Amino acid sequence: MQLYTECKIDVNLYAKEESGGGMEEKKVSIVDVAKKSGVSTATVSRVVNQLGGYSKETEKKVLKTIKEYGFRPNVNAIGLRTKRSHCVGVIVPDITNEFFAKIVRILDIFFIKYNYSVLICDSNEDPELEARHIQDMFDKNVDGLIYVSGMESISPILKNHKVPVVFIDRSPKDAEVIVQSDNFQGGYLAAKELLKAGCRKPLLLRDYRMASTIQQRRRGFMEALKENGMECQRDYEVAVMPDYMSAKEKISEILTEKGCCFDGIFTTNDMMALGAMHALAEAGYSVPQQVKLVGFDNVSLSEFCSPPMTTIAQNTEQLGIVAGKALLKLIRKEDIEKKEYVVPVSIQVRSTT
Ligand code: RIB
Repeated sequence: MQLYTECKIDVNLYAKEESGGGMEEKKVSIVDVAKKSGVSTATVSRVVNQLGGYSKETEKKVLKTIKEYGFRPNVNAIGLRTKRSHCVGVIVPDITNEFFAKIVRILDIFFIKYNYSVLICDSNEDPELEARHIQDMFDKNVDGLIYVSGMESISPILKNHKVPVVFIDRSPKDAEVIVQSDNFQGGYLAAKELLKAGCRKPLLLRDYRMASTIQQRRRGFMEALKENGMECQRDYEVAVMPDYMSAKEKISEILTEKGCCFDGIFTTNDMMALGAMHALAEAGYSVPQQVKLVGFDNVSLSEFCSPPMTTIAQNTEQLGIVAGKALLKLIRKEDIEKKEYVVPVSIQVRSTT
């Protein structure tokens, strides 16, 4: 996925001059750039900060001078003057989960093109750590914040700050701007795939915390069953921590206590699906012959595990870009089209159904 395109501003902005055989770095000031470009220092500053208010021709001229002579904005000086750090914060609950790592990478690539640095924090699915990171971000004067919250409602810290925030993936009750997958459609497609594969007793293995994403996936799953005259029996909805080991232990426990009382499993992320798959294998049940399986996220393990997993693909590239564009507009105090963005999902049918 070649997302990175030429930076608007070349990052190697030091002028290098030969002196005594060595390469000496000589800083070029904003005044030098203004003089060489025939514009004011205010115009150079606006071009560097991509604030608009100049012609394409002026922008081209200034960027050409910056590239030719080298110029590195003094971000601290700019920050003091413009109250902008040119840094955005990104908080995710588990950077080791490929789904979140992909989101972070997309955001990093997106913002560097607009000369913003990204400050990344991992809240480790811990609301207290999440609150600590939010405060740290504000202390570092980030211009905006994108984050996947683990909280039911937004942190009080956010309410006391004017920093624009875009929530991504999970949406606390009172989130203002949210970018998320069509999780309802994902749960619906998962159930339809299990039914199409012949399942009549599917089990829902979900994250025990009812974040917005999980509620929506659950609703979609139940809706598809209902459309087929079925319903998910109480014992066929199981809630665990959303990780590999918790899912593996829970499925092993059910198989030990009740035997294989289900013929399909939908899990609300791929790590859980892998855990369920290994529990079934250890107990001697074959997938998909005896039990069908559908995961959620389409992280790379779902393709490389054996058998390759059927899963619901979230479009992490779109999630990141839509969230990045929304935050950039909010930082620039521009209107955004809407407050809730839903990115379509798709089903990636492989060998577990
Ligand atoms: O794997 C992590 C899960 O939690 C993903 O499905 C993502 O949507 C997040 O909500």
